[in-house]
Amino acid sequence: MLLEHLQAKLDAIAARHLTRTLRAAETPTAPRQTVRGADGVARRQLMFCSNDYLGLAAHPDIAAALAEGAQRWAGGSGASHLISGHTLAHERLEETLAGWYAPHVPHARALSFSTGYMANLAVITALGDAEAEIFSDELNHASLIDGARLARAAVRCYPHADAAALRAALAASTARIKLIVSDGVFSMDGDIAPLPELLTLADEFDAWLVVDDAHGFGVLGEQGRGALEHFGLHSERIVLVGTLGKAAGLCGAFVVAHARIVEYLLQAARPYIFTTASLPAVAHALLASLDLVQGEAGRERRARLQVLQWHLRDGVAALLERHPRLTWRLADSRTPIQPLIVGDNAGVMALAARLDGAGLRVPGIRPPTVPPGQARLRIALCATHGTADVDRLLSGLESAARHLEPA
Ligand SMILES: Cc1ncc(COP(=O)(O)O)c(C=O)c1O
Repeated sequence: MLLEHLQAKLDAIAARHLTRTLRAAETPTAPRQTVRGADGVARRQLMFCSNDYLGLAAHPDIAAALAEGAQRWAGGSGASHLISGHTLAHERLEETLAGWYAPHVPHARALSFSTGYMANLAVITALGDAEAEIFSDELNHASLIDGARLARAAVRCYPHADAAALRAALAASTARIKLIVSDGVFSMDGDIAPLPELLTLADEFDAWLVVDDAHGFGVLGEQGRGALEHFGLHSERIVLVGTLGKAAGLCGAFVVAHARIVEYLLQAARPYIFTTASLPAVAHALLASLDLVQGEAGRERRARLQVLQWHLRDGVAALLERHPRLTWRLADSRTPIQPLIVGDNAGVMALAARLDGAGLRVPGIRPPTVPPGQARLRIALCATHGTADVDRLLSGLESAARHLEPA
């Protein structure tokens, strides 16, 4: 019965053009990868899909630090942090991150996690207790939404980046504890949350501001410390979640907040307590990654991303002028996430398939990841792309536009 039941659901997913497929890469994360297609054939592809924005995943210092970490720490941590899995490598990583954010969050303490998904579940479920109300941007990442679903708190969504609507919701709330929750950079849109306004509202309504800066970390700010550095924010009301599997080029995540909040997470957050600590070798390598992010290499790569972003934006704007009957629209983004909104699911998948045929891998993103009718290509740039790579993408889009523009 279960198998028939699931087949019917799979058929319904396929009928809506929402079937997702896995493809295995045969080479490391980089702008050019060899990827095995659904037909089992390996092809060289130019990738515009990874969140490795600084191109650090393939940096030789990271590979060397991982190898050194494996020599020093060998394999798994063996247990959760509170049992025996916590190591000096994790502790150094946490101390370094707490130091990074001390100018932004007074009394900062950091806690490391295996993934950003777990960090978000931990923060939202632990702080969102029955006395709390969560105010969540409608475009927040799935892990924040899932955290809110699991939390005991009341949950209210506010329209995307709409500080006026948030203000009205906060004013109407009688909850003792109020948590404003927002992505720092929105993962499928690339826009930056209006954090200064959100923080002003937090002050006015005695609320706390949880910022998931998965896509701002490493990318925004002079030293790559993300949205807090970008806006020069400073407040003990900030609870920052950062991920280390994107611009940091490895994996893992962290929370930085007032030391008492972090102490409470350590005591009470189930996604922290009931899971094995990450590999100490990874924590060791992350220290090398943080050096790269904040140093000259990071600065150069952030500058390079700006050049690539504008090159792409100018090229797409010119293309859309040449094809006025296309309904495509480039989202207004100042980050390496440059979504090209196509609209319908079948349309975006046809476009992605055409690009794929030309050796260009750009993922089509469909509901429920984005709202219905807003399916898009999520073009993600890395500092290790060249402008010639962006030109190749633009010419792939141009030839697709010629085929797909309505008569
Ligand atoms: C905004 C945002 N938050 C959290 C996560 C989860 O982070 P992780 O991949 O480390 O689980 C992601 C993506 O994966 C994300 O895009």
